[in-house]
Amino acid sequence: MFAGRLRVRYNDEIMLDELKKIEQSAREKLANMGDIDATEVLKIQFLGRKGALSLMLRAIKNLPEQERIKTGSAANRLRQELEAAFDKKLAELKKTNHESVLQREWIDVTRPGVKTPRGHLHPLTLVRRDAEAIFHSMGFVTVEGPEVESERYNFDALNIPANHPARDMWDTFWLRSNQKSQKSKVKSQNDGRLLLRTHTSPVQIRYMETHEPPFRIIAPGRVFRYEATDASHEIQFYQLEGLMVDRHVSIANFKFVIQEFLRRLFRKQNLEIRLRPSYFPFVEPGFEVDVACIVCNQKGCSVCKRSGWLEMMGAGMVHQKVFAAVGYVPAEWTGFAFGIGLDRVVMMKYNIPDIRLFHSGDLRFLKQF
Ligand code: PHE
Repeated sequence: MFAGRLRVRYNDEIMLDELKKIEQSAREKLANMGDIDATEVLKIQFLGRKGALSLMLRAIKNLPEQERIKTGSAANRLRQELEAAFDKKLAELKKTNHESVLQREWIDVTRPGVKTPRGHLHPLTLVRRDAEAIFHSMGFVTVEGPEVESERYNFDALNIPANHPARDMWDTFWLRSNQKSQKSKVKSQNDGRLLLRTHTSPVQIRYMETHEPPFRIIAPGRVFRYEATDASHEIQFYQLEGLMVDRHVSIANFKFVIQEFLRRLFRKQNLEIRLRPSYFPFVEPGFEVDVACIVCNQKGCSVCKRSGWLEMMGAGMVHQKVFAAVGYVPAEWTGFAFGIGLDRVVMMKYNIPDIRLFHSGDLRFLKQF
């Protein structure tokens, strides 16, 4: 009994004291809380089922009635007060948290979006595609040939034998002779040395060697010339070769096809052209096609050098020696051929003053197309 009474008295005082300590510590810690999750954890530490206050309430049950009522009601009051204090703090934190998120993640939905930069086609590609589509609509099909050619295809079969003065028309990049690679690339050892093709005309030969007339083909592609560069000359540029072979092809046919092509390419229905006599060993007769200057309408300007005409392409009726070189029966076939300088066409169409801009990699230039 004595021990019991002593214990009771001791526990009563101690417990009220404990409750005060719990309250103090809880309020102190709560005041410093700035984080919702940490506050929830703290709440459980004090008010949870295994929290400090619940342990006290359990111990209070063992006290004699008087003391139990006194400490019990004090503990319950504290529990309610602390619960209210925690809830208030949590509500505050949630509110400020929401506000700071709003502040941080605020976006102006009326602002215009950021444009994703998109690539686009090079002006040379645009015009090549345009040109191809026009010829396709007239029954021509696109074929291709290699950029590394042999002397035979680039010259001999086109009626330009070695030592022919006409070879000077094409300043050539010859490849360093390498017996092995030469053997693997050319059809026979008689194909001669390797070079970078100086025009797309060798594609005529390659096609005719493997196909019988009648046919209509175009061959767009890159060509190379060993020349000094300036505003109108590049060591590499693009041509579009054309070839039509049948039994009765005439210059009139050629004139119609090429005029139709140019009118549609430049979107000018009354565009005028003229044929001027010229010389290429693989055609007879040969001519140059001029277009009435689309810049000044023949009034005379710097682009047409006051002449009113712009030189557009070399052309002519296929030479019988070329038909013979590919194994056709001579006199059986007729045809026209032409070679358009694509870069020139693009320069005229978009009024570009310098051919070197095409491969300058200058985005200020490229972005205009
Ligand atoms: N291949 C010639 C050149 O590059 C152009 C041409 C092609 C001329 C077809 C006549 C016929 O200069």
